[in-house]
Amino acid sequence: MDLFDVYPLFDIEPVKGEGSFIIDKDGRRYLDLYGGHAVISIGHSHPHYVSMISSQIEKLGFYSNSVQNSLQKELARKLGELSGMPEFSLFLCNSGAEANENAIKLASFKTGKSKLLTFRKAFHGRTSGAVAITDNPSIIAPFNVRENIVFLEMNNIQLVEDELKKGDVAALFIEGIQGIGGIRVPETAFMQKLRELCTFYNVVFILDEVQSGYGRTGEFFAFQHYGITPDIITVAKGMGNGFPIGGVLISPAFEPKHGMLGTTFGGNHLACAAGIAVLDVIKSQKLISNAEKTGNYLLSELTKFEQVKEVRGKGLMIGIEFEDDVAEIRRKLLFEKYIFTGVSGKNVIRLLPPLNLKKENAAMFIEKFKEVLGG
Ligand SMILES: Cc1ncc(COP(=O)(O)O)c(C=O)c1O
Repeated sequence: MDLFDVYPLFDIEPVKGEGSFIIDKDGRRYLDLYGGHAVISIGHSHPHYVSMISSQIEKLGFYSNSVQNSLQKELARKLGELSGMPEFSLFLCNSGAEANENAIKLASFKTGKSKLLTFRKAFHGRTSGAVAITDNPSIIAPFNVRENIVFLEMNNIQLVEDELKKGDVAALFIEGIQGIGGIRVPETAFMQKLRELCTFYNVVFILDEVQSGYGRTGEFFAFQHYGITPDIITVAKGMGNGFPIGGVLISPAFEPKHGMLGTTFGGNHLACAAGIAVLDVIKSQKLISNAEKTGNYLLSELTKFEQVKEVRGKGLMIGIEFEDDVAEIRRKLLFEKYIFTGVSGKNVIRLLPPLNLKKENAAMFIEKFKEVLGG
């Protein structure tokens, strides 16, 4: 059997990871400024993470959600504490898209409505509901086209209010900072007004923190930069540092009912061990403050490059926009300087490194970036 060929691949095979570095099968070391698509939060192969998962698999890898699992409770408690949302409750699942599907369902159950508002350039996942609120027609199959989705321009509050006034909206979805859309930070006043309007019109305000959450932006959640509290928050990526896990954080205004949501694998013992290890390390190594400091250093250095059109982002979620296609710059960074980066569209380089990125490694990137840009 061959693989279903849906991914364009670099001809590199990583076989080992250490902190902010990955090592390929020929022993070459790469600085990882991509984090496997914002997934590596605490760094590759962190000893506490390795030991938590290894010791858990020796005891019990999985049992179903029909029995007590104190690891889930420990994960929820630690997540509530570290994120500053202890009053919210947690539903565990396996990915970002799945977290968003469950958020849609909760909003629709609660309001009895089905219309969703979302934004231009949004990405919320590839499953049925999540892809329908994603602004990329090329990944929406005819089956996933929905009548009841409205895409709005970000930072235009009047358009949002015009839709909310109609009285048929279940939820409004927005990323804390748009990731795949090119690292676009919403305006604080816009986010605050969204919060106000959703409360006024009884619409569920959902923050997709799948990419921007878990300390990446220098706060546990990106929405904490705007001084607001959403009704539902979705997380995944950095939550498991590579172990598949997702979560829906739900405000106390939602009443759970047995059977309302469910999953076979969500919240399994191994995933919880990974999730707890991630929270332990974020806390003990002060990775959120490292993301802020190292991110600020990178943001200020990157704005000095004349060739760069715009630098956007917060913490270690950074977009570097060029006038032209960035493919050649990324190719040189990867194959000549051994640095992994991400991309958005044709002309934005995305930096989404592990949150333990050291200043000296950030400085090394700036040096190499200078060389690649010929400055
Ligand atoms: C903001 C956002 N939401 C949702 C998703 C989907 O997550 P997953 O690929 O885990 O389903 C992504 C993935 O890139 C994302 O960036």
